[in-house]
Parts: sequence; structure tokens; C-alpha cells
Amino acid sequence: MERQAEINLIKEILSYEADKSTDMQSHCSSIAVDCYTRDDQFEQEQQLFKEMPIIVGHGSQVPEAGDYFTRDICQVPIIVLRQKDGSLKAFINVCKHRGGRLARKSSGQGLRTLVCQYHAWTYETNGKLRGVPHRDGFSDMPDRCKSLTELPLCERFGFIWLRLSPITVEDQDGGFENTLNQLLGDTIIGDLEGYQMDSHVVFDPKDFHRPINWKLAVDTFMENYHVRKTHKETIDFMFLDTVGSYKQFGLQQRNLYPKKTMTGLREKDESEWHIREHGNFLYLLFPNTLLLIEPDHINVSIVYPDGIGHTQLINFTLLPEKPSEKGIAYFRKNNEILYRALEEDFSMALDVQQGLHSGACEEFLHGRFEQGLRYFHENIDQLLAKR
Ligand code: FES
Ligand SMILES: [Fe+2]
Repeated sequence: MERQAEINLIKEILSYEADKSTDMQSHCSSIAVDCYTRDDQFEQEQQLFKEMPIIVGHGSQVPEAGDYFTRDICQVPIIVLRQKDGSLKAFINVCKHRGGRLARKSSGQGLRTLVCQYHAWTYETNGKLRGVPHRDGFSDMPDRCKSLTELPLCERFGFIWLRLSPITVEDQDGGFENTLNQLLGDTIIGDLEGYQMDSHVVFDPKDFHRPINWKLAVDTFMENYHVRKTHKETIDFMFLDTVGSYKQFGLQQRNLYPKKTMTGLREKDESEWHIREHGNFLYLLFPNTLLLIEPDHINVSIVYPDGIGHTQLINFTLLPEKPSEKGIAYFRKNNEILYRALEEDFSMALDVQQGLHSGACEEFLHGRFEQGLRYFHENIDQLLAKR
């Protein structure tokens, strides 16, 4: 982030705090409750997930040739595999014979070939079909069955981005990365480059499955109005109550949740103002990745729909370097609080999910300072309307 932008943001927060105010819209807004429950809406959202670059992990999780991980995302089983030349490839983890699953473990190392569990068709790590038992029986098979279905992929800011639909000519020679760059825009790219996440390492990854709509999971990150009550026992003591800054850059969002210590900067010279020590940035990389920028680490939460009323959430922490034993203890303690706070959020989202069909509300209100929610839902609606 540019130095002047950092100083301006701190000034913005200090002026809100002085006026007992915050970043606010002129009016409150609302969304129809059935945006969480309508099958047709969910079908379209799921389609959106298959058309956009999404993050599936971090490059440090598969550092060596033959390292891989698998996931099922939006009902697409994928395998991400480090190649001999250091590049990464992603395939649909499904055999071209009759749809058997190839890799069954969630991750592994030293993979030389992919062998289908059903009739033992064997593929190279680059996806090419190598071995077919009793090959004579398939002597006239079509060429399209001779390699796995590849997905477009790139590594950017340390993250592994892919699209859950087959690679096309336009994706090749940097095309997919260009699409991603256009979606992110210059400001967000500048911010993400500044965090140097490509040299970070993954710490304490956890997967969650919860019976809530995926947007309810994202919603919990998008405002800090709930912190006073929901996180009373965990993190509330650190933060200013319902004071924040909410910026939108195309589809991307950057919220700033200031800590109480930010007010102490009034007494300090601007040269000593460092925003990361006094507030957490929360980025929504549309549609489903949340980055929480803390002073000495970054928390990554990736939300995937798994049916209309079910969500898979992948969470991990990025550390600037491999932690020492002391570091491990320190960050574990930190994450205990983080994961407790996450459970507090899930608990609220579950309450909301259970009332969605009750008929009590036709609409949910977004307060003038809950514009983070408003932007997120408006962006989804606008994209779906264009389809
Ligand atoms: S389904 Fe894979 S070998 Fe038959
Ligand atoms: Fe929360």
C-alpha cells in the first residue's frame, strides 16, 4: 500500500472516532431473504464459481515435483500437482475410462503416475494417458480420452488460482493470469504484492464443513458491527466499536477494522504511523476468499458452496517464515483465539440459516455502516443479472 494511502486511512479513522461516527452510506439497504434459499439463484452462483478464478491453496503446500493435493470444490474433484519443471498443473481428478477417481488421498508427495483405482488406467503427472490394461479393447478410442481434463491455473501472490472449467485456448500463454489481473485491478494487485505472500509459509490449516449457505459464511467477515456482542469473550476488547473504512475496487473489497490503539497515533508523529499494527485489513477477493491482515501474520479463509445449505471453509495462516518452536507456540495460541472467534461467527450464521425458512423476515437490513455486505450482495446480483 502506498505510504500516503496508509496515512490517509489512519486520518480517516481518527476523524470518525473523534466525531463518534464511521464510514456510512446515505441510506440503509436490504436484500431479499430468499437470496439464500432459492434454488435457481444457487444454481447460478455455482455457475459463477465455475467461471471465475478462485484460490484453492498456497504454493508452499506443494513445493517439490510430485507434491499434490486434492479437493472437491463445487462438486468438481480436482488434483493440483507440481510438475518436474516446477510449474503447477490442475486436473479434474476423474478417469477418462468410466469416471473413476484417480488420487484418493487429500495430499501426498513423490507422485510419479496417477493410477485409477477402478481398472488401473495410468496417467503421467502431466495428464497424458500412459497405460491401459488390455489396450486392444480400446484400440479406436477417441483422442480426447487420452489425457485428463486440465483446468487453467496460475500462481500469483503465492496463491494457487484456478478455474473449475476446462482450459481453453484463451487461457494459454498467460491468458488466464491476465483475466485474474483484470479482475483484481491495480490497487488490489499493489496491496497484495506488498504483503509478499509468495515467500510466506502455510501454518495450522483447518477445513470446516457447516450447514449454512456460503454467503452467510462470507457475510460474517464483511462488517465489524457484530464484534461487540458476538465476540465479547474473544476479540472485542481490541477493537473500536463499529468504526471502520470500506472501500470497493471493482468486485474486490478492502475493509479496515481499527484497533483501539489507533487512537494513540494522534500523539505520535506521522512518520511513526504504521497501520498494520493498529488495525486489521479484511480483503474480500471476490467471490469467496477473505484475507485478514494482522501485524505479523495473515489469515486466509476460503469459502466454497457445497450445496445450497452447506459450506466448506478452508482456513490457513500465512507466516513470513517457517516458525521456530517458540514461534509455533506463539502462533498456536494466537490461532486458538482466531478459531474460537470463527466458531462464534459460525454459531451466529447457523442461527440465521435456521430461521431463513421461518417467514419472519422478507428482507435482511444492511445498516448504513454495513456497506461491506451491501457491496458483496450487489456485486453478485449484478453478475447474475448479466447472465
Ligand atoms: S474408470 Fe478408470 S480405469 Fe476404468
Ligand atoms: Fe466475526
